[in-house]
Amino acid sequence: MVEGWSPDSWQRKRVLQQPEYADKHALQSVLDELSARPPLVTPHEVEALGKQLAEAAIGKRFLLQGGDCAERFDECRDDIIKNRLKILLQMSVVLIYGLKNPVVRVGRFAGQYAKPRSSEFETRNGVTLPSYRGDIINAPEFTAEARRVDPGRLLKAYHCSAMLLNFVRALAEGGWADLRHPENWNLSFAEGSPRAAEYHSIIETVREALRFTQTVAVGPLTGLRRVDFFTSHEALHLNYEQALTRLIPHRDGTYNLSTHFPWIGKRTAQLDSAHVEYARGIRNPIGVKVGPGTAPSEVVALVRHLNPFNEPGRMTLVTRYGAEGIEQELPPVINAVGAAGQRVLWCCDPMHGNTETIDDGVKTRHFDKILTELELAFDIHAGEGTILGGVHFELTGEDVTECTGGARGLVESDLSRAYRSTVDPRLNAEQSLEMALRIVRKCRRMRR
Ligand code: PEP
Ligand code: CO
Repeated sequence: MVEGWSPDSWQRKRVLQQPEYADKHALQSVLDELSARPPLVTPHEVEALGKQLAEAAIGKRFLLQGGDCAERFDECRDDIIKNRLKILLQMSVVLIYGLKNPVVRVGRFAGQYAKPRSSEFETRNGVTLPSYRGDIINAPEFTAEARRVDPGRLLKAYHCSAMLLNFVRALAEGGWADLRHPENWNLSFAEGSPRAAEYHSIIETVREALRFTQTVAVGPLTGLRRVDFFTSHEALHLNYEQALTRLIPHRDGTYNLSTHFPWIGKRTAQLDSAHVEYARGIRNPIGVKVGPGTAPSEVVALVRHLNPFNEPGRMTLVTRYGAEGIEQELPPVINAVGAAGQRVLWCCDPMHGNTETIDDGVKTRHFDKILTELELAFDIHAGEGTILGGVHFELTGEDVTECTGGARGLVESDLSRAYRSTVDPRLNAEQSLEMALRIVRKCRRMRR
């Protein structure tokens, strides 16, 4: 056990972004029930992921992390889950053959139900109500009843996560016909775009590689039959995380078994915060979001605090500066972490620093800005002698219109057509696949 730590030691620290439950007894009885429920993931899987992330940190793998900004209970559905997995899988195959590196697939799912908010309240037409904080806490509709903090939602989050994971595991075991037939992948969005030929040529390389694998090698083909997905979410709702934290006697450690890969969000990543205290004591690999305003010395202190033995694979720094800020802010952080001798996996989240609010109050992100931050991240790391070992996207397999740009050329007036996110705008299926193709293009150019 880590010194001075217990699953509830976070309660004695500075606790931010937690809901206030009116009925403490109702909350406790839900937490007691959760504590007795089976875990969602196993320590063995958590450790396997840690090893893979350690390899990604040194360029031997590449991390692809993606999913909704905020998962919804009513989207725990056959079609939505399948479409989301399908796009992640397609992206990963493009990256595997394009980067010639195995990909670690991590979903932002099966627990991504709690959201940090910059404001406690929301006002519409003179009416003020508590903010929506994610389905695990309240509901997004703008009524007093929907915004009420309801402890029963903790159980629902657990049940939806379990259903989703059960389905993901079944699909992963059963193999994916789609993976072996990229000729069926829909690239029609790129027709008419100046990049169509280039995209087709990348997909053709993937096809060739897959054909080759299937013809001559039994091993990799078997590998394709079984596809691994790991899960991740922001470990924000600490009562929930604590209830799924388990001491594993034979492994000599405490694990968060609600997910493989919890991360600490930007708003709660301070040295004295409850979230950092909680993460300090669990054996899972930990992600920390780092963005504008966090001093390099603070990042080093956080990494040292969370990974005192400098274990490979333990720490992932997910940087999210925005296309405008990254050149100024990322290099000093890379240098400070390097000078401290800390081993981390560098991952780029090109979404959260590039959010804009347009005239009618709708949040969007432009494909080009997302891509620019990502390309700059590759260049900056190459220039500093470090490795960008992963990417983190908010995306969906649905045909939504939340981010502008991409080969289809979505503009602001398209957004109202299919805007479904309750929090941040996601790349749709086409924009996501295109993003993977652009990563391959970027990496190929860097190799030349
Ligand atoms: C998120 O990943 O949805 C999020 C809130 O990010 P950040 O903590 O980086 O703002
Ligand atoms: Co978000």
